[in-house]
Amino acid sequence: MTRTAEPFDAIEVIRAKRDRQTLTGPQIDWVVDAYTRGVVADEQMSALAMAILLNGMDRAEIARWTHAMIASGERMDFSGLRAASASAGPDAGPKPTADKHSTGGVGDKITLPLAPLVAVYGVAVPQLSGRGLGHTGGTLDKLEAIPGWQAELSNAALMDQLSEIGAVICAAGAGLAPADKKLYALRDVTGTVEAIELIASSIMSKKIAEGTGTLVLDVKCGSGAFMKTEPMARELARTMVDLGRDAGVNTSALLTDMDTPLGLTAGNALEVAESVEVLAGGGPADVVQLTVELARAMLAGAGVTGVDPAEALSDGRAMDVWRRMISAQGGDPDAPMATARESHVITAPESGVLTRLDAMAVGLAAWRLGAGRARKEDPVQAAAGVRMHAKPGDTVRAGQPLLTLYTDTPEQFDRAQAALEGGFEVAAEGTPAAEGFAPRPLIIDRID
Ligand code: URA
Repeated sequence: MTRTAEPFDAIEVIRAKRDRQTLTGPQIDWVVDAYTRGVVADEQMSALAMAILLNGMDRAEIARWTHAMIASGERMDFSGLRAASASAGPDAGPKPTADKHSTGGVGDKITLPLAPLVAVYGVAVPQLSGRGLGHTGGTLDKLEAIPGWQAELSNAALMDQLSEIGAVICAAGAGLAPADKKLYALRDVTGTVEAIELIASSIMSKKIAEGTGTLVLDVKCGSGAFMKTEPMARELARTMVDLGRDAGVNTSALLTDMDTPLGLTAGNALEVAESVEVLAGGGPADVVQLTVELARAMLAGAGVTGVDPAEALSDGRAMDVWRRMISAQGGDPDAPMATARESHVITAPESGVLTRLDAMAVGLAAWRLGAGRARKEDPVQAAAGVRMHAKPGDTVRAGQPLLTLYTDTPEQFDRAQAALEGGFEVAAEGTPAAEGFAPRPLIIDRID
């Protein structure tokens, strides 16, 4: 048998983690690189991922793992980015960059109004995003509901758009952390997505490689999030903030609720329309609140203080940037959005106070209606999704519409309705459950 010149053996590394040992830096560098090269096989990496899920990694191991994933691909550099406008002058200093990352939730369209809003204040927002998998939507799927809009940009076009307009939402190129792309796909089919160490290193390897100066993490917590409990969400947030800071990225996190969907829509075209309402100075209060809070954190991280981002939503400046940003990527900001061929209304079973509208149930329903995909290569329906007519804390009357389901494939209505069974609760007026009900605050905590 021919021996290769590999410095380690995958089985030794797997056994070490299986037996709760700390992996050495060189072992980690090698196993991530060898997996990317195809020398460590999928089944070996699956075993290692499961050992990590069960036995954990310490802070130094997670940092090394993250850096090994960054080293598997290219690193972007925005340090030479300058404002393109003549008023900026020839000696204008580099533009600060700020980015936001959400760990994923239902109805989470915040990136859409947030990126143009932050750009209003002269901070460049390179928002490299992904497509959705499972019940959580993907930012690119949402924007692709806009006729003509293109997700793929070359690095040169990305830089040009950042200096001209200040905001870009586009697909992360294949060159960014390729080890993560391969490992994420493997985790998805081996029950190892939920390891905090692997989620943190997956997200942060991409964000550090992207080269943003400031990063604000929106760590979701609740039924519709990866992290179901607050202690787990807190641990993920702390781990990612530490990883970012150690790598020189000014990183902070908001811990936010995901027991209830964000806003009143879940589904691609529906969420774009709701985002445009926010950019026009309206929209649901929770979407506005989170957009403004995240903008504040991004601006503060980038050194912009003494401004109120809510103003740029109400006076149309954020909308102007949105329109330019969409047009620059081939989209028509005035094109009517797709509407679904079929709809089905679910009504309130009794009068009272809506005390629960489960994010996972709504996300699953939207997914089954065609808004999401089960496999990476599946198409999504632009118009499929769920519109919510009430949120927890609202008073409803028996028979009033609670949810409207939309799809082009009405044979999916039954499965979507099944997902919503037990997904909402109405407490009769005057009962202790109705009187004493207070929704969980949207912003649970900040982690710096
Ligand atoms: N998002 C990522 O990019 N990676 C994970 O592991 C989980 C969510």
